[in-house]
Amino acid sequence: MNAMASGPGGRTVSRHLPFGEKRDSRFYGQSILSVSQFDQVDLATIFEVAREMRAMVERVGSFDLLKGKVLTNLFYEPSTRTSSSFVAAIERLGGSVIQINNVRFSSVAKGESLPDTIRTLESYSDAIVLRHPEKGSAALAASHATKPIINAGDGPGEHPTQALLDIFTIREEMGRIDGLTITMLGDLKYGRTVHSLSRLLTLYDVRLNYVSPKILSMPSSLVESLAKEGTPQNEYRELEPVLPETDVLYVTRVQKERFENQAEYEQVRGTYVITPETLAAAKEKMIVMHPLPRVGEISMEVDTDPRAAYFRQMENGMYVRMALLALVLGKA
Ligand code: NCD
Repeated sequence: MNAMASGPGGRTVSRHLPFGEKRDSRFYGQSILSVSQFDQVDLATIFEVAREMRAMVERVGSFDLLKGKVLTNLFYEPSTRTSSSFVAAIERLGGSVIQINNVRFSSVAKGESLPDTIRTLESYSDAIVLRHPEKGSAALAASHATKPIINAGDGPGEHPTQALLDIFTIREEMGRIDGLTITMLGDLKYGRTVHSLSRLLTLYDVRLNYVSPKILSMPSSLVESLAKEGTPQNEYRELEPVLPETDVLYVTRVQKERFENQAEYEQVRGTYVITPETLAAAKEKMIVMHPLPRVGEISMEVDTDPRAAYFRQMENGMYVRMALLALVLGKA
């Protein structure tokens, strides 16, 4: 993103670099819209800062790195983890948050456009976290914004901060990413988490298996672009044939809200359920991940299996988002 903009009367003004902030970060003042903006060095930076954040939280709970900074959390779709982990992240860094998670009570209900809502909220805050049901909405918001926009899910499009916390979790749990076989299971058509995660994994040497009902297959455009990157991918309808070779089993929820035809949803809901019996055929060192919420895809009896990594994954979300805020708002 361009840090300079033309001000009133053609004057050139600095948009994102207020006096006294560090200017050397590659992330400083940048929007986070898609995983395609990251390279391996970026990921290493984010993960290193996330580990520091975890250590600081364990030691002191919160600290004043972003004192005085205000974050807006603008959510047009339901959220528990993404929204509250961003709140926790900014507050643990000493900043504060404007929380709009029920747009029915904002001027959106009066018909205000996304660009106008963004223009308003950016004048009160230093960055905006946006979740919106339309693909491309975060990019649209960023094109009207002078402050960083963080995409927290644009419909079935992308969910870049989730992909970052997912890869951070794989790295922390498995000790490496290269060489792993990662099996994605469930709704690969509408699931934005798997869209971002599979794209970001092209930076590594991994094998991807896709297991889904036919109507919920990974979009072919995405499969083609991953193939161009040289990532080996295989598609299945059943988990059984690929489970024994799997190192990371990434389970997703069937995205009920994206179906135009509810009868179709009924057809595919509950296709796959992970139980302790399923895991009997899995590697002892495999991990089970899920972005959550789960609605029956993983039985609760799995929770006590050491391979169940989804709650650790969820906790990692806060450290990774603390790292991102610290890097984007400039004082990491
Ligand atoms: C996911 C999402 O919103 O895309 N949840 C999350 O952010 N952890 C997954 C989902 O809703 O199924």
